[in-house]
Amino acid sequence: MMNNNNNSPQDWPEPIVRVQSLSERCRDSIPERYIKPLSDRPCSEADADDANIPIIDLSGLYGEPDERSSTLKLISEACKEWGFFQIINHGVSPQLMDMARQTWRQFFHMPLEVKQQYANSPKTYEGYGSRLGIQKGAILDWSDYYYLHYLPLSLKDYNKWPAQPSSCREVFDEYGRELVKLCGRLMKVLSINLGLEEDVVQKSLGGEDIGACMRVNFYPKCPRPELTLGLSSHSDPGGMTVLLSDDQVAGLQVRKGDNWITVKPVPHAFIVNIGDQIQVLSNANYKSVEHRVIVNSNKERVSLAFFYNPKSNIPIEPIKELVKPDKPALYTAMTFDEYRLFIRLRGPCGKSHVESLKSPR
Ligand code: OGA
Ligand code: NI
Repeated sequence: MMNNNNNSPQDWPEPIVRVQSLSERCRDSIPERYIKPLSDRPCSEADADDANIPIIDLSGLYGEPDERSSTLKLISEACKEWGFFQIINHGVSPQLMDMARQTWRQFFHMPLEVKQQYANSPKTYEGYGSRLGIQKGAILDWSDYYYLHYLPLSLKDYNKWPAQPSSCREVFDEYGRELVKLCGRLMKVLSINLGLEEDVVQKSLGGEDIGACMRVNFYPKCPRPELTLGLSSHSDPGGMTVLLSDDQVAGLQVRKGDNWITVKPVPHAFIVNIGDQIQVLSNANYKSVEHRVIVNSNKERVSLAFFYNPKSNIPIEPIKELVKPDKPALYTAMTFDEYRLFIRLRGPCGKSHVESLKSPR
C-alpha cells in the first residue's frame, strides 16, 4: 500500500522473502528473481587482475612532517584515482572490530522469529531488511541486511536495535563512537588535501550535527553465484563510508574503468570510500565510485558499512572555494533528505542519482 502524503513509501510492494531462508532451501538453483541480466553478472575472468585498492598506514599522519605529507599525498591520490582505499593503524581497536562483526554474525544466525521482530519498511529502512527499492517485480540482490541510525541522537532509537545478542547495543554504541571519531579525522584529511582549512568539509556537512548510520550486510551462501550479485552496482549516497569487511571472505568489487577489481580483505583494516555528497561538496575533485558485491557458493559473508552523512536538512552544494571561473559549480544544491528519497524509491542503480544532480549547462 502506498501513502503519498509525504512522498514516503509506507510498505513493500510484495511479501518479503529472506535470502537466508532461500539459501537454506535452494540446493542447486536460485529463483528467477535473483538472476541478473547477462551484462550485470560477475565476470568469470575475475581475479586475473591482481590490482588492489591502495592500503594506507594512517599512523603516518601523526609522524614526522615528511611522513605526514607523504601519507596525505597517498590519500589524495587514492581519492582521485580510486575513490576507495584501505586504512590500517587507524586507531580503532582490533578487538572492538572483531566483536562488532561477531555480534552481528550472531544476530543473523538467530531464529527467523527473533529477526522478524525487527522487520523493516521502506519508510525509514531501519531494522531487518531484504531489499532496497520498492519497484514491484524488481530483480533482487542475494543479501539480507540490518539498517540502523547512530546519529543524530533524535533518530537513535534503541528499540530499533536488536536486543539480542545482549551485547549488541553496547558494542554498537562503542563502535559508533569510535567510527565517528575516525571519520572526523578523515574529514580533516580530505579538507587539507582539497586545499581548504581543515574544518571546512566537516562544517559543510553540518559540523557537529552530521548523521551516521550503519548497514550490516549478510550475504548467505548461494548455489549459483555466477548468476547473481549480493549487492548491485551503486555508489554510496552519503558523505563517506567506512566498511568493516569480512576478514575471511572477499566479495566487494570496485569499478576501475571497465573492470571490476575484487578487494582483498586485510585483517583489521577498514575500507573507506567517497560518497555522492563529498563528490558534490568537492565539486567532483573527488568522485564516488561504483561498487558491487559478489557471493560465494560455500561461504557466507558479513560486512558492516558505516555511513557518515551530512545533516539531513541543509543544502549540499559545491564548496565555494572549489568553484572557480574555469571550474564552475557542477551540481545544484539539494538536501540529503531529498536525495535519499530517490534512492529509497528506486534501489541501487549505479551512479544515476548523482548524475541527475548535474547543473544544466
Ligand atoms: C554498502 C556496500 C559492500 C560490502 O553496504 O553500501 O557497498 O562489501 N557494502 O558489503
Ligand atoms: Ni556501498
